[in-house]
Amino acid sequence: MMKVLVTGGAGFIGSNLALELQDRGYEVIVLDDFSSGHFKNLIGFEGDVVTESILDVDLNRFRDVDIIFHQAAITDTTIQDQKLMMQINTEGFRRFLDFAIENNIKFIYASSAATYGNAPAPQKEEYAGKPNNIYGFSKWICDCIAKKYMEKYPDAHIIGLRYFNVFGPREQYKGKMASMIWQLAKQMIEGKNPKIFKWGEQKRDQVYVKDVVRANLLAMDAKESCIVNVGSGRAVSFNYIIEVLNKVLGFDYTPEYIDNPYKEFYQEHTEADLSKAKKYLGYKPEWKFEKAVEDYIKWLKKNKYIK
Ligand SMILES: NC(=O)c1ccc[n+]([C@@H]2O[C@H](COP(=O)([O-])OP(=O)(O)OC[C@H]3O[C@@H](n4cnc5c(N)ncnc54)[C@H](O)[C@@H]3O)[C@@H](O)[C@H]2O)c1
Repeated sequence: MMKVLVTGGAGFIGSNLALELQDRGYEVIVLDDFSSGHFKNLIGFEGDVVTESILDVDLNRFRDVDIIFHQAAITDTTIQDQKLMMQINTEGFRRFLDFAIENNIKFIYASSAATYGNAPAPQKEEYAGKPNNIYGFSKWICDCIAKKYMEKYPDAHIIGLRYFNVFGPREQYKGKMASMIWQLAKQMIEGKNPKIFKWGEQKRDQVYVKDVVRANLLAMDAKESCIVNVGSGRAVSFNYIIEVLNKVLGFDYTPEYIDNPYKEFYQEHTEADLSKAKKYLGYKPEWKFEKAVEDYIKWLKKNKYIK
């Protein structure tokens, strides 16, 4: 039986991945310090959970794993503490990458569309490198380190996945960092007009977590090391998200427009160019935005996050 480690496995994406791997018959170990994860994300999980930080956990505990999915990171993109962000996101990453190389373990890690800053859309992988904040910078340097390792160790299996805006089940414990889809749905269900930044025409590539999990599974069998985008390949505006939520939830809310305090750092238009993901992983999104929102709302109702 293949044994896999999911760092950040109590978080949003990590828990979806851990549960899917378990369903597919893998022996799964989760490593998480529960700083932004939650045990409720892992209801149904029957594997092992190691509760330590990626910065100091004894790596010998993971010597016999076949694959590492590295998801653990500080995911609050508004944190300004540069040393903390770099230590956890970049040094934490380096520690696991080194360990994977030394022990011949496949290494698949979460990078981010934040590495693109304000690069023009659709973003191609080579446009990255001008991040707007320390979070984006911490992920960009992971990608730079990964590229050097790919050259130095041509036989290693290193896959960087640049997730765009992910939404879906088990993001509820991310609070203000959860997706716009969840934030807006929640406001509407609470009877409030959904609040968005003026004038709602900012566009984002919103990708369903089920597609992100699938990209990770495909990454296990990639023939070559690579860093590729993982998105839906389509940008939707905030106004359009509200339109779709109105339809799916049966409401008729109009958006309330507010000033954007992060204007300087704000990505106005993200949209993944997926040609590399298709070429290297055979990845193509399976979830259309409208269908994904429907599926997600069903899950939220079934799990009593909304009535
Ligand atoms: N959600 C998105 O839209 C998105 C987009 C791009 C990239 N990403 C990346 O995907 C990965 C998963 O993000 P997520 O959305 O699931 O967020 P999340 O906050 O739910 O998950 C991160 C997990 O890492 C854990 N963690 C943090 N610091 C740790 C440490 N020092 N040691 C051990 N565990 C630690 C947290 O407790 C949490 O469970 C992250 O690397 C994130 O940067 C996410």
